[in-house]
Amino acid sequence: DDTATDRLTELAKRRGFFFQSSEAYGGVSGFYVYGPEGATLKENLEDAWRDRFVRREGHMEIEAPNVMPEPVFEASGHLDGFDDMIVECPECGASHRADHIVEDNTDIEEAESIAIDDIEDIIAENDLVCPSCGTDLAGEPVDDFNLMFETNIGPGSSSPGYLRPETAQGIFVEFPRLKEYARGQLPFGVAQVGAAYRNEISPRKGLVRLREFAQAELEHFVDPEADEPDLESVEDVAVTLYSEARQDDDGGEPVEMTVGEAVEEGIVGSAWVGYYLGVAQGWYERIGIDMDRFRFRQHRSGELAHYAADCWDAEADTSPPGADPDWIEITGFAYRGDYDLTKHGEYADDDFTIFKQYDDPITVERATVDPDMSYLGPEFGGDAGAVADALEALAERDRSAFEGDDVTVDVDGEEYTVPVEKTGFAVEEVTEAGEHVTPHVVEPSFGVDRLVYTVLAHSLTQDDAGESEADGDDEERTVLTLPPELAPTTVAVFPLMDKDGLGERAGEIAERLRRAGFEVAEDASGSIGRRYRRQDEVGTPYCVTVDYDTLDDDTVTIRDRDTTAQARVPVDDLPGVVADLRAG
Ligand code: GAP
Repeated sequence: DDTATDRLTELAKRRGFFFQSSEAYGGVSGFYVYGPEGATLKENLEDAWRDRFVRREGHMEIEAPNVMPEPVFEASGHLDGFDDMIVECPECGASHRADHIVEDNTDIEEAESIAIDDIEDIIAENDLVCPSCGTDLAGEPVDDFNLMFETNIGPGSSSPGYLRPETAQGIFVEFPRLKEYARGQLPFGVAQVGAAYRNEISPRKGLVRLREFAQAELEHFVDPEADEPDLESVEDVAVTLYSEARQDDDGGEPVEMTVGEAVEEGIVGSAWVGYYLGVAQGWYERIGIDMDRFRFRQHRSGELAHYAADCWDAEADTSPPGADPDWIEITGFAYRGDYDLTKHGEYADDDFTIFKQYDDPITVERATVDPDMSYLGPEFGGDAGAVADALEALAERDRSAFEGDDVTVDVDGEEYTVPVEKTGFAVEEVTEAGEHVTPHVVEPSFGVDRLVYTVLAHSLTQDDAGESEADGDDEERTVLTLPPELAPTTVAVFPLMDKDGLGERAGEIAERLRRAGFEVAEDASGSIGRRYRRQDEVGTPYCVTVDYDTLDDDTVTIRDRDTTAQARVPVDDLPGVVADLRAG
């Protein structure tokens, strides 16, 4: 329903939550500004995330640069594989995401995972046209478009860099140092909250698809052989799971079950992912997401990112109740396995493993060959080193190959035969204190802007609760039922009138509340009813009115946003009352 979306966009702009950036220069798609209310809301949301996913879990948080050098993204696979499909209109020159054209004009969903050639065919077969000018797109090539923003580090172009497309890489790349802070012990988690950049082909839907956006990511490094999540703490949490893999059984409808059942039945393949689904479920409720318009959806195999073995998305329906659902992905929960650390280990000059000490050192037999390759005569040409390496690898792999008189190895398709006695083959006993393990990564990755958008969409309410209020105002009111923890302003203080010392007294009370740590607004203009409406619209949970009785008995009224009920409390008790109300 466009009206509801428009209402939110209008409110967001008018009241300073968010608006398109650089409007003075015509605006630029995919870049948004958080105004005063929005910036505080976003900060409160990030703090709530830190509280649950960093502090409460005992993880650490870092802040890495936004620009990283090219080799990082060669290793991570983003340079090669972080693409969307693009089609350019031959008539008007507009570029469009090929999968969006297909999804918007056919009943095909999730076209993103279809191969380029097939997308070309689908465009031709369905007579799809340019969304900008209506030109027939049949026969136009569909290309890969890399989503990373490229830049140069320093003058010239010899050192290309990229704005990070996910905050995660800033964590993986620093793993060799971060593991030291974790004293070399698994499991440990590293979080980062910060900007990520994707040069989206056609950003749309405001905060939902941005070119610069914020992520709150946790990379939890675990030993796949030894570490288990604390499933007991979440096993009774009920979740709504939607998995097309189960379509045959469930007709594609979401299933309701507990996290414990989902993991036990293998619907959620990784217990670690199950753990974070359970933790996140509680957190989404805490930040005011309407759980009747929420589900976890499993990625289909073709949809998985290049690094992911299993992935579930948290999705929220941001359409108004009754309208067609408009599901947006707010978080990805991926089991990245050892993909990233193995890749960086291959490309970078550092150790991306953890040395896992055995309880007691063990003695193992190790087969070796003579490291001095002088026994390989001139007949081995320039390949003597490669032959020696191949012999060494073979000794490690298959000792029986050295049981005869000669041993044969293959080097780049050429066979070399060496007398065993010349190889110096020996088996010796060595003591090993431990082994190198490449940790696996479990990654809950939250899109902060989409969370802000969802929280606003789910808390935007129209009601007539204000009708009975002091000023006799009988208008329908617009209210944001934000949880007090997220509300940009916790308490607003109004003098009934700005005269007879009421204004000064209100200022003193506001100052006292600020000193107690609350976000406080003051407003002395217009009727009390109007002032309530203004605070309701930005989600302020409590309003305090200073009136003539205050001057006599030092009490004020405090009004609750959602019920509009009022109570009279002594000024001295006010900070404690607000703190108790806020804590619920
Ligand atoms: N490190 C994993 C990762 O980046 P992702 O699913 O590509 O995974 C994680 O992104 C989250 O970031 C998404 O669930 C979404 O909420 C948010 N996100 C992704 N692209 C976005 C965009 N263009 N604009 C706003 N948010 C976006």
